[in-house]
Amino acid sequence: MTELLDAPLHEIVANDPTILQDPYGYYARLRDEAPVFRDPKTGIVSVSSYALVLEVAKKPKIFSSAFAHLLLSGGAGSLDPEEAAIMAAGLPWRDTLLTADPPAHQRYKRIAMQAFPHGRVKTMEPYIAETTHRLIDGFAADGEVEFKTGFADLLPSFVIADGLGVSRDDVPKFHDWLHAGIARLAGNAGREERIASAHKEIELQRFFLDAIAERRATPRDDIVSDLVHASLADTEGGRPLDDAELYAILQQIFNAGQETTAHTLTYALYQLILNPDQMAAVRAEPALIPNLVEETLRFLTPTNNMWRVVAQDVALGGVALKAGEPMLLRFGAADRDPQRFEDPDRFDVTRANAREHLAFGAGVHTCLGMALARKEMTVALPILLDRLANLRFADGLNSFRYSPSPILRGVTSLHLRFDRA
Ligand code: HEM
Repeated sequence: MTELLDAPLHEIVANDPTILQDPYGYYARLRDEAPVFRDPKTGIVSVSSYALVLEVAKKPKIFSSAFAHLLLSGGAGSLDPEEAAIMAAGLPWRDTLLTADPPAHQRYKRIAMQAFPHGRVKTMEPYIAETTHRLIDGFAADGEVEFKTGFADLLPSFVIADGLGVSRDDVPKFHDWLHAGIARLAGNAGREERIASAHKEIELQRFFLDAIAERRATPRDDIVSDLVHASLADTEGGRPLDDAELYAILQQIFNAGQETTAHTLTYALYQLILNPDQMAAVRAEPALIPNLVEETLRFLTPTNNMWRVVAQDVALGGVALKAGEPMLLRFGAADRDPQRFEDPDRFDVTRANAREHLAFGAGVHTCLGMALARKEMTVALPILLDRLANLRFADGLNSFRYSPSPILRGVTSLHLRFDRA
C-alpha cells in the first residue's frame, strides 16, 4: 500500500483493489495535493475536500445529477451491447430522484417525501425495537452470529419490505437483486456478472410492476400505494406517475435503503469492539448512542463516492472544468478532512461535530431516508449492546474485508461472539 501511494498522484489507479480496501491514504493525498483532480487515465474529476464537496453538492445547476449513464455503467459511460439489449426489453430509465436535476427533481422529491414523511418515521420506534428483539431472539442462545447477514442486512430489509407493503418472505430475493445491482454500480464487475445483473434488474422490475398493478386496483396503507395514487401537480397537470417513474422511485428506495444502513450498523459494532474504552462509555451512557451513529456515519461514509456531471464550463477550487466532464464527489474524503474534523482518522463517539458529516449528502439531493436510517440505528444499537454481553470478534473467522466498490463502503461480514443469553 505504502509503495502504491509513493507514486505521483496521476499514476495511482484510484480503483486499485488495495486502495478500495483502505482509500484514506489516497484521499489524504488528493485533499493535500489536488482537491479538484482530473485523473489523466480516466478523465474523471475527483473532488475531495469538505468545503469543495459541499460546494458542488449545493450547486445542482452547475454540477448536474444527470449521471445515470455513469452510475449504471460503473463509470464507463455506456453499457455492453448485450447488457443494453436486456435493459431495453424492460422499462425505460427515468431520471427521478438521485439522477434528476431541478426542477423535475423537486416534483419527484416532494411526492417521495409525502410517501416517506418524517412523522411516519417518528412513530416507528416500538416497531423497530420489536423487530430488533425478534431478530436477536433468533441467535441469542448461540453465543455467536455473523452479524452482517444475521442481523444488519435483515433489519433494514424488513423495514423496507414492510414499508413498501411486500412480504418479508421476499427478503432473500431482495438481497439477491440488491447484490447484483451493487456489483454493477461498482464498475468492477466482469461482463458475465454485469449481464447476469441486468437480468436480475428485469426481475426486480417485474416484482415492482406486480405490486404497482395490485395497489392501483386496491390501495393499502403503504409506500407503493401512496406513490401510485400521488400526482405530479404544478407543471404536469396533476397526472399520476407512470410505471417507469414509479419503478425508478421504488428501486431507489429499495437500493439506497438497505446496504447503506446494514454497513453502518455492522461498522458501529466493529469500531466499538476495536475501541473497548468507547464501548464501555456507550454502555455506561446510552445518551451517547445518537452520536455513536453520527460518528460511525462520518468514519465509514457508506456512500463513499457519488457521481456528478459538470453542466457548464466553470472554475472549481482554481481548476477550470469543461461542460460534460464526469465527476466523483468523494463524500468519504470530505468526512476525513482535517480542516473540518480534528484528528479525523480517530473514531470518537464523543466528537462534538460528528453530525456535520456528509454521509447523507447535502443540498437538494440530501438522503430521502436519513430520518429512517437514523431511527433504525439509534433504536437497534442500544438493544444490541444490552442483549449481547461481552461482545467480541470470533477468533480466526474474520477477514475484515471491505466491499470492493468505490461507491458503497462497508465490511462484508463480521463474525461475533458474546455471552449466551
Ligand atoms: C446509513 C444509511 C444511508 C446513507 C449513508 C445514505 C446516503 C445517501 C447519500 C449520500 C445520498 C445523496 C447522493 C447524492 O448527493 O447524489 C442519498 C440519497 C438518497 N437516499 Fe440515502 N442513504 C441512507 C439510507 C437511505 C434509506 C434508508 C433510504 C430509503 C429508504 C434512502 C433513499 C435515498 C434516496 C431515494 C436518495 C436520493 C435523494 C435525492 O436525489 O433527492 N437512503 N443517500
